[in-house]
Amino acid sequence: MTTLDQLVALDAGNVMQTYGRLPVAFVRGEGSYLWDSEGKRYLDFLGGLAVTSLGHAHPEVADALADQARTLLHVSNLYYNDVQPRVAERLNALLGGGGRVFFANSGAEANECAIKLARRHGQQHGGPDRYHVVSAYGSFHGRTLTTLAATGQPQKQETFQPLPSGFRQVAYNDLDALAAAVDDRVAAVMLEAVQGEGGVVPASPEYLRALRQLCDEREALLIVDEVQCGLGRTGKWFAFEHAGVAPDIVTMAKALGNGVPIGACWARAEVAAAFAPGDHATTFGGQPLAARAALATLTVMEREDVPARARRAGTRLAEALLKVDGVADVRGVGLLMAAELAPGLDAKAVAQGCLDAGLVVNAVTATALRLAPSLLVADDEIDAAVAIVAQACAAQGGDA
Ligand SMILES: Cc1ncc(COP(=O)(O)O)c(C=O)c1O
Repeated sequence: MTTLDQLVALDAGNVMQTYGRLPVAFVRGEGSYLWDSEGKRYLDFLGGLAVTSLGHAHPEVADALADQARTLLHVSNLYYNDVQPRVAERLNALLGGGGRVFFANSGAEANECAIKLARRHGQQHGGPDRYHVVSAYGSFHGRTLTTLAATGQPQKQETFQPLPSGFRQVAYNDLDALAAAVDDRVAAVMLEAVQGEGGVVPASPEYLRALRQLCDEREALLIVDEVQCGLGRTGKWFAFEHAGVAPDIVTMAKALGNGVPIGACWARAEVAAAFAPGDHATTFGGQPLAARAALATLTVMEREDVPARARRAGTRLAEALLKVDGVADVRGVGLLMAAELAPGLDAKAVAQGCLDAGLVVNAVTATALRLAPSLLVADDEIDAAVAIVAQACAAQGGDA
């Protein structure tokens, strides 16, 4: 077995150093648990950043992958395959039907597709100037140059100027700011119903409903980025459903393959028709292996009714966290949650304390922990995780 020190040295000598990694190497997972290279067990309440929504090594997903690997891993999108349209059919049903899906390999790529589609649609219907995209400060839409341009975090953008033009950010949850920005050059408004990377900040239902109306009035499309909160995590299949709005374009990725990279961009059929063959493509998107992972994941998700489980488990987790002395407040929806720590507590230090005690969570801001466990998480796992958070806060002086 390679030791942690050997892995860190191997990484430093061979991997681009783009991540500020914590000194742990995970080698195995099962359900809500992970094991590191030294044999230590952890409760995983981060889920690979909201990816492993059915937990690690889910047997049905693993069996489907093994079967597909022995049958057909990959075939070009120049041909049909027998899995991709079945996944599209399932997603279309979850989104109320009447749409079309493009498959990508990540969240950023799903958003890239959404932006390109919105530009094509805007220019076809509103003329050559209608290609701008308005998004929100605090948002996160990806790290490609275009999705970075849509990401409302100037500190992440600065290093990579000049970014593609045609993007503008406004304050989140502020309808007046949005109304002032959406003119007849705007092809789409792009938004997360719950800002994940921005600190787990939900949009108010009233804002989302007013936004939908504004987009209709100004003939702009509404793109909802469900990459982090989509597919059951917030207690609905999609977080925008809490507000009862219907977007024109929905993107998703993280949870879709339960760990196998796959992204998807769904659009209303009339919007999707703005793309002609040749307009957009990717070699791996919707290939049989990734699509089979998605099919198996969606099958388990539907059978287990993961939105209902996320609602119930989310309530238990929130109630327990609120009783912890070091936790001042809890925000989020379902099982996408941030615990705002008591004044004086540093989230990075508390997250490190949790890790030392065998719980994986991350500091989503300087003062808040993010929790995004498996949607199949058990009650005793929630109780054990909260006990570790309490212990880590107390160790940092949070119970003073
Ligand atoms: C809301 C949202 N959109 C897009 C992305 C980018 O996804 P990826 O890292 O798969 O490119 C993320 C990643 O955290 C995200 O949270």
